[in-house]
Amino acid sequence: MSKQRVSRRQFLNYTLTGVGGFMAAGMLMPMVRFAVDPVLKPKEGGDFIATPQKVDDLTSEPVRVDFTYEQVDAWYTSDVTQSAWVYKQENGDIVALSPICKHLGCTVNWGDKDYPNEFFCPCHLGRYEKSGENIKGTPPLGPLDVYPTEVRDGYLYLGKPIPNNIV
Ligand code: FES
Repeated sequence: MSKQRVSRRQFLNYTLTGVGGFMAAGMLMPMVRFAVDPVLKPKEGGDFIATPQKVDDLTSEPVRVDFTYEQVDAWYTSDVTQSAWVYKQENGDIVALSPICKHLGCTVNWGDKDYPNEFFCPCHLGRYEKSGENIKGTPPLGPLDVYPTEVRDGYLYLGKPIPNNIV
């Protein structure tokens, strides 16, 4: 077995490299953690958001349901409130329509005195059937989007709006 002597220069090189590497790792780790932290956070509640609407209280008359959820945008967290027009069809299926007008994005309402059984957009007089289908001859060129729905413990949960699949 050969005994290899470590010179003073080599010893200093190894020591400085080791200490420098350790210090660099100590500085870089928080930066890396900060960069990937939002990706590592677990998603809560799946894709469906709870609403305060009891399903048993729904009728064939559309009601406006407001719901709030926490939105995480990278490192910024904020509360977002959205709405849906919700009713039950004759067969008991729940319909939840997005209130965002397909013309220029205003909010549509149900039960306007001039159009009592339609969704009405006051911005440019857009009109929609109860199913969300746009009425020809009015500005909107497509039907209102629908929210996928789920019922959990008697309460309505809504997913992300999708193109209307009931018209
Ligand atoms: S934004 Fe609704 S009709 Fe124009």
